[in-house]
Amino acid sequence: MSPMTHNGTLRGAMIGGGPGSMIGPVHRIGISFDPQARLVAGVFSRSREKNRAMARELGIGEERCYDSVDEFIRSEARRPWSERVDWVSVVTPNVAHYGQIKALIEAGYHVVADKPLTATWGEAQALHETVIASGRFFGLTHTYAGYPMIKEMRFRIARGDLGRIHKVVVQYAQGWMMGYLAGAGGAVGTGGAPGAEAPPLPWRTTRAAGGDSCTTADIGTHAAHLVRYTTGLEIRRLLAATATFLPGNELEDDAAVIIDYVGGARGVLVASQSSTGERNNMVLNVYGERGGMEWRHSRPAYLTLKQAGGEVIEIDSGMRSLETLALGINRRPTGHPEGPNEAFANLYREAFRAIRARRAGEDPGPVDMPDIDDGLFGMRFVERVLASATEDSTWMDWSTTQGAAQ
Ligand SMILES: NC(=O)c1ccc[n+]([C@@H]2O[C@H](COP(=O)([O-])OP(=O)(O)OC[C@H]3O[C@@H](n4cnc5c(N)ncnc54)[C@H](O)[C@@H]3O)[C@@H](O)[C@H]2O)c1
Repeated sequence: MSPMTHNGTLRGAMIGGGPGSMIGPVHRIGISFDPQARLVAGVFSRSREKNRAMARELGIGEERCYDSVDEFIRSEARRPWSERVDWVSVVTPNVAHYGQIKALIEAGYHVVADKPLTATWGEAQALHETVIASGRFFGLTHTYAGYPMIKEMRFRIARGDLGRIHKVVVQYAQGWMMGYLAGAGGAVGTGGAPGAEAPPLPWRTTRAAGGDSCTTADIGTHAAHLVRYTTGLEIRRLLAATATFLPGNELEDDAAVIIDYVGGARGVLVASQSSTGERNNMVLNVYGERGGMEWRHSRPAYLTLKQAGGEVIEIDSGMRSLETLALGINRRPTGHPEGPNEAFANLYREAFRAIRARRAGEDPGPVDMPDIDDGLFGMRFVERVLASATEDSTWMDWSTTQGAAQ
């Protein structure tokens, strides 16, 4: 791809993330958190008016605000190398991911995309092949992998602090969908006034825009990835029951999954967006022969260590002795809360490091960011959960096409 600008600033484009969108602004904060990258082009919305409005807000000229990904690829190819973008962030609804990411990768772009990888398992397999064959960088923004204490947990588990792991319990519960029943719209902060006429259900509840799955794809993939990221455990088989509690939802809004991991550990995963009143309640517990560890998204700077002998110790991201402090990813003075903005900044920092290395023809070494294999893993998880639920909760082997387990 194009060479970097003279001062080393990487140039990016964004697909999706128009006015009022949810995750686009968080990506933009993550991109600009460290002064090393900026957006210079985009396709921010399918609405021409909203697309242009977003470009203006970001200080991007009309000439680099495109109506489609195809137009973006065609027009940008005519620009001199010195102006071309170095990576593209894809933050559109699930059903758009496959076509957009495929086109961008085939045109030679490095891509950072949000999860789930695609809308269907078939698309995920095809896209995995395309990305691997291309040699382009591909990063997937599983937010929680960017939190310092998640990295600390991962480090301590890999060091063997828990001994052999036999049990993992992860719950990811949101309640915003039930807000629609109360006429309160969706997520807190984006809904209408209580009692007002309910807005239409979000795209996540439709097969046309969400794909095969609503909640398992939207947040179940985060939970499944978090277990894999922190423990390294691979799924051998799973059984699942799903349910739909929100009237009008074409897909599932609740999933309960029991997992057998390779090596004998047992997992319980609950993903729900109809857990009335819950905000973004992610809790991860890992238990091994020597102790347990607990991380809660409501207190993300803390990690609880539970000793087999009974002692419970809470450590926090300000501790001088932390391994992860050395990585420079604790971005606030001790005691000041960090959240998804900082987590995204950590993910993008790794993506930019990897992209710069490729550009320089150097090996970046291990890149600590979810990748195309994680994207495939997430969609396999969705496919297996739905298959089991359809078969009255029978066990489904994880095997065999991607070789992640067995
Ligand atoms: N990592 C996370 O924690 C996290 C959180 C929320 C959403 N997401 C993911 O991010 C993606 C976007 O979700 P969202 O909640 O921001 O959705 P959203 O509906 O709030 O925003 C989507 C944006 O994309 C635009 N858009 C739609 N189709 C487009 C197209 N074909 N081309 C260009 N722009 C288009 C829309 O106009 C809108 O601005 C989804 O895949 C979702 O699963 C991830």
